[in-house]
Amino acid sequence: MPPPGGQTRRVRILVTAGPTREPIDPVRFLTNRSSGKMGYALAHAFQHAGHSVLLVSGPTDLDVPDHVDFIPVETAADMCDAVRHSIGRMDIAVFAAAVADYTVRDPAPEKIKKSSDPLTLELVKTTDILGSAREPFGFEGTLVGFAAETNDLEANARDKLTRKRCDLIIANDVSKPGIGFDSDRNEVLLVYPTHNEQVPETTKHDLAHRLAHAILTLHAERVGCEP
Ligand code: CTP
Repeated sequence: MPPPGGQTRRVRILVTAGPTREPIDPVRFLTNRSSGKMGYALAHAFQHAGHSVLLVSGPTDLDVPDHVDFIPVETAADMCDAVRHSIGRMDIAVFAAAVADYTVRDPAPEKIKKSSDPLTLELVKTTDILGSAREPFGFEGTLVGFAAETNDLEANARDKLTRKRCDLIIANDVSKPGIGFDSDRNEVLLVYPTHNEQVPETTKHDLAHRLAHAILTLHAERVGCEP
């Protein structure tokens, strides 16, 4: 849907979504419980509002929303490469992916046999993609991250806001039953540099539209135009 009557400038938005898969050997990998629903719902909401969306996603069971550009990736390193190559063309970048923080140092080229007990895997840190957006990637647009926390929600989110030089962190408490990972519902705290805003529990679909509106408004304030 094009922006109505030229009142709204078409904004270019990158959304990362889903989990990543870090190979152990050709048949096994490390991953996490992210369904990708929040990121896909956000991509749809931005597209529905008339904007141009690139979705970079790890493996999910979800259909790619219509009219959204799509780069499928597997590993955190693949996602990092896709973001590095595309973020320079974007006005807004929203990092909804649950990127693995660690990857296997030397994945086995052949299937690991059940011989050693215990089996030790050596894990090394992946690149913090969101944390690389400003420097070294040089992104100057509106930068939005997510924080999934089990404790001290606001303090941890505010630390990420500063550390990763974001304009907004969307924080959710993953210890609360029935919301967040795997669920169709979520409740979030929006952590801005100057204040917080609570968004009460709702469907991920409804939340995505509210978040898209909040992010577009924030972007418009930063660049000094109508949302
Ligand atoms: N993220 C990313 N690349 C990574 C890890 C995280 O882009 N390798 C992004 C996620 O998409 C999300 C935010 O960073 O937007 C979440 O960060 P999180 O993993 O919670 O932060 P960390 O700095 O790893 O802190 P923690 O010690 O809490 O894991």
